[in-house]
Amino acid sequence: MRREIASVYTYISMHATQNKLQGCDASVLLESTDDNVAEKDAKPNKSLRGFSSVERVKAKLEAACPGIVSCADVLTLMSRDAVVLANGPFWPVALGRRDGRVSSATEASNELPPTSGDVPLLAKIFASKGLDLKDLVVLSGAHTLGTAHCPSFADRLYNGTGENGAYGLVDPSLDSEYADKLRLKCKSLDDRTMLSEMDPGSFKTFDTSYYRHVAKRRGLFRSDAALLFDATTKDYVQRIATGKFDGEFFRDFSESMIKMGDVGVLTGAEGEIRKKCYAPN
Ligand code: HEM
Repeated sequence: MRREIASVYTYISMHATQNKLQGCDASVLLESTDDNVAEKDAKPNKSLRGFSSVERVKAKLEAACPGIVSCADVLTLMSRDAVVLANGPFWPVALGRRDGRVSSATEASNELPPTSGDVPLLAKIFASKGLDLKDLVVLSGAHTLGTAHCPSFADRLYNGTGENGAYGLVDPSLDSEYADKLRLKCKSLDDRTMLSEMDPGSFKTFDTSYYRHVAKRRGLFRSDAALLFDATTKDYVQRIATGKFDGEFFRDFSESMIKMGDVGVLTGAEGEIRKKCYAPN
């Protein structure tokens, strides 16, 4: 269970927190219906997992204390706990979020930061949620945990100009030795079976080694690599990569997570407290 929390919970809950399209309202947990394709089924959300774990936590809360704790609060708490269980920082989570009733795949596809994004684009998307450049470089540090499927980064390994459209030039912002290793795992652009660690060597531990990888041009996604192409984010990457400011990163991460968890929350009479996280009441 501990391992499950540290990896699976983190992804769904962190990206779900990040995804706050209608606000931090657990809309990403809603299932599609006959007349609506939900966020969950938007292409960028296809790799989200761990939904059943969220439902299990919610079911226990409902049994103990019906109608009190929203799915949005459950996700926010699970994000924090996943980080703590992976040896990361603790931060207080203010509660009282309510759950949204709307979930739109179209909106998710339009508003989620693409892996191919450069800093100006990512910063713009973050800014639209009230998050600044520092939040971007700090929260990207969450990629110290977890794994990714090949289609999320294989375009950096194969540019489609080689034989059979498969082999070609590698993204020059990616360390070539590292690219060789990644190609051994991801045999093609659309290999959906293999998983690669985003922070090789310590992908289950919340630490600062993500920044050392990025500083050495070993960030897995273009969005990670992009942090070296902006003076502010580059400075931060290089500072934390020294390993001398781990405490500073932990404090920054806590602050940015609190900020992200507060964006557009529903309170008071807005929304509802869902009974099950996958469907509105
Ligand atoms: C800056 C924009 C971001 C982009 C473009 C991005 C993109 C991605 C992608 C493509 C994956 C891998 C999906 C897969 O192939 O399975 C991933 C994984 C992950 N992301 Fe992000 N992400 C971003 C920001 C964040 C933020 C802000 C957080 C949390 C604070 C976060 C936490 C995670 C975690 C924990 C995983 C690992 C998932 C697992 O092990 O299944 N990411 N991200």
